[in-house]
Amino acid sequence: EKDLTRMSEIIAAYSSLDGPTLPILHALQEEFGYVPEDAVPMIASALNLSRAEIHGAVTFYHDFRHEPAGKHVLKLCRAEACQSMNGPQIAGDFLAKLGIGWGETTPDGVLTVEGVYCLGLCACAPSALYDGEPIGRLTRERLDAVVQEARG
Ligand code: FES
Repeated sequence: EKDLTRMSEIIAAYSSLDGPTLPILHALQEEFGYVPEDAVPMIASALNLSRAEIHGAVTFYHDFRHEPAGKHVLKLCRAEACQSMNGPQIAGDFLAKLGIGWGETTPDGVLTVEGVYCLGLCACAPSALYDGEPIGRLTRERLDAVVQEARG
């Protein structure tokens, strides 16, 4: 319930902006770590838009999460330079090994794997960010080490 109050405060703070949807979604994710489902109807009614429109914005932008992230977040680059350096194969094997898909969290809640589109680290593709720290020249072994570190 405290969350609902906080959500309406955040929505109110941005709703007079020109084009308020994205700033609201970003502010909610900043506060909660994801965009809570409950916020969608609240934003819709505050902005006089349909729920479908708000829901569409949440799903269109890869930045928004629908549920809390795991303890650690690994972002794997899926853009061109990384694709050409075997990124998709490495990422595919990695996700299969973890048994999760893009944007999902391991069942133990330790690691969320998200796709991103160019980290500006193309020179050392394939690239990733682990809890905000850049990792270049990704290999399967390096990713195994990341999981080990995440599981502590
Ligand atoms: Fe992957 Fe630029 S394409 S870092």
